[in-house]
Amino acid sequence: MSTINPVAQRFESELAELATLVDSDRPGWTRRALSEFDIAGRDYALTLMKHAGLATRVDGAGNVIGVLPGRLGGREIMLGSHTDTVDGGGRFDGITGVLGAIEVVRLLRENDVRLDHDLVVVVFFNEEPNDFGFFCVGSRAMTGLVDRTTLTATDTDGRSLAEALPDSGIDPEAFLDARYDFSKVTAFLELHIEQGPELERMGKQIGVVEAITGINHFKALFTGRQDHAGTTPMDVRADAGCAAAGTVLAVESIAESGTNTRGTSGQIQFTPEAVNVVSANASVEGEFRGPDGSWLQEAQRRLTDAASQNADKRGVHVEMEWTTDDAPVPLHEPITSTIAEVATDLGHTRATMFSGAGHDAGIIAAKTQVGMIFVPSRDGRSHCPEEFTELADILPGIEVLLETVLRLDGV
Ligand code: GLV
Ligand code: MN
Ligand code: MN
Repeated sequence: MSTINPVAQRFESELAELATLVDSDRPGWTRRALSEFDIAGRDYALTLMKHAGLATRVDGAGNVIGVLPGRLGGREIMLGSHTDTVDGGGRFDGITGVLGAIEVVRLLRENDVRLDHDLVVVVFFNEEPNDFGFFCVGSRAMTGLVDRTTLTATDTDGRSLAEALPDSGIDPEAFLDARYDFSKVTAFLELHIEQGPELERMGKQIGVVEAITGINHFKALFTGRQDHAGTTPMDVRADAGCAAAGTVLAVESIAESGTNTRGTSGQIQFTPEAVNVVSANASVEGEFRGPDGSWLQEAQRRLTDAASQNADKRGVHVEMEWTTDDAPVPLHEPITSTIAEVATDLGHTRATMFSGAGHDAGIIAAKTQVGMIFVPSRDGRSHCPEEFTELADILPGIEVLLETVLRLDGV
């Protein structure tokens, strides 16, 4: 089947439309989950899905689900990605896979191709980390990985997730009950931008993902004593800020100790925030990533120890919480080899890749066979306003997605 220029036009105009559904008070293209902008983004995707001919619904966890019925019924191929962004993010992360999946539906219908499988398109709710310490929230709900303790998690204002969800039209009880029946799903595919520099560096068009990084998120809360910055001698302070700062540096040094491992302290807060006051409280939120599950477990132990040492030597109390603990996920044969064959058959250059970014595909992989298709990111930039992929680089990804669906349908 040949894909082509209406695809480019539609993709470009839909990308541009989604780029208007953002918080204009924030830098870049900001559409954070649990915001009104995220609701608008998922609504827009829902409208596109309806117009593409899908039977749509929104599940109890805010996932937008569209179905193109197949000839046989009872078996499904699922495609999906997300429309939420990080604060100050770009236009392509997640969105490429959502628009690409909807495009596959249109191309099938325009070419009068009826699959045997039902084709299910999912726009997952809340893929990026939220203020409650969770990410890939919609896919976790679909796979049964949320429970009542998820709902009791709080943000820095002390608001619980259970209190926040209704503002996005999500009933907490329905959220807990949003499991999807994956017994019918024979494969899940996610098209995504690479978000790193490898494809561009290698001059390849398509990345065939063989594994997705493990990710451990932590929250460290330090409680010290608020004091006068000028009169309190250094040796009697209980400076929560210094304990937090030592922990940030420990994240960096632990991450430097592994192979292809990463450590980031992306959020830090001192209270009170005053130049002449010793911090009473401090919080650090961050994460480790890597391809090796045992290294990640070791990194957790080392950081928990480092946070305690940094606190103890200053008379500060620390509470360390690991909010997510996701092992690395190998993706599945024969899906990955089908993607590779398709790329070659369509004349696209390809490389096998490891994903240092997390994806809903990594959560869904516990339930069905999963493959991911990457397209290049300019200068490897992502999670920033400069994130960019040429349309000419996205179209091969959509072609590979479509052809992979056709081949998997025939299996
Ligand atoms: C998701 O984008 C992640 O890798 O954090
Ligand atoms: Mn992202
Ligand atoms: Mn993403």
